[in-house]
Amino acid sequence: MARRKIIAGNWKMNMTPTQAVALIEKLKPLVVTEDADVVFCVPAIDIIPAVEATKGTNIEIGAENMYFEESGAYTGEISPAMLTDAGVKYVIIGHSERREYFAETDETVNKKVLKAFEHGLTPIICCGESLTQREQGITIDWIRQQIKIAFLNVTAEQAAKAVIAYEPIWAIGTGKVATTEQAQEVCAAIRACIAEIYDDATAAAIRIQYGGSVSAASAPELFAQADIDGGLVGGASLKEDFGAIVNYK
Ligand code: PGA
Repeated sequence: MARRKIIAGNWKMNMTPTQAVALIEKLKPLVVTEDADVVFCVPAIDIIPAVEATKGTNIEIGAENMYFEESGAYTGEISPAMLTDAGVKYVIIGHSERREYFAETDETVNKKVLKAFEHGLTPIICCGESLTQREQGITIDWIRQQIKIAFLNVTAEQAAKAVIAYEPIWAIGTGKVATTEQAQEVCAAIRACIAEIYDDATAAAIRIQYGGSVSAASAPELFAQADIDGGLVGGASLKEDFGAIVNYK
């Protein structure tokens, strides 16, 4: 069975609640499609107005992060139950910016992935290598390690429903998109790694996105690759271009 594409916007720390609703109103008619799941991952404070503004549309709302505890004395954090109660379906876990600026590790990523599944949230699990790692020729080893730790204690049934976003760090926000060959090579290696951890059926079901300077121009070729099931889109998700990316065919 062919995997359904999933195209997600990652708004990062952009858009006030008022701006978020205005952007959604603008993008709503442009992102209509039957062929892909469309997700807007928005800042926590935008979630409630975004869920309201997307009611009755094909857009699902995702969060950009969450904590791995149920509740309690964790000032400033957002729990999985807060997300599901607000109508969130997806949550980005372990984005490279969170790893770099907020001390996220493969271990906290794993805890968050397990917690997301416990609450019926679909994690969009990020992995990716730095430019130095690519130049050292250790990209695949590094990504395999990130994936193996992220999926510790995750069941095959859960893993089949997960989304992995392969985002080379050097391609994020730089305008330097990976070549389709580079992106396909790593996404295929991720799928092979999932097959090793679980089985072929799980590997065939899991959806793997490419992220890093995806644009309306680069999306068609990237998304046509055998192991690339859509994209995680930063900068271009805040513009009308996102409509063209979603309707890339
Ligand atoms: P970009 O961001 O599309 O602006 O490169 C992608 C991401 O960080 O998810």
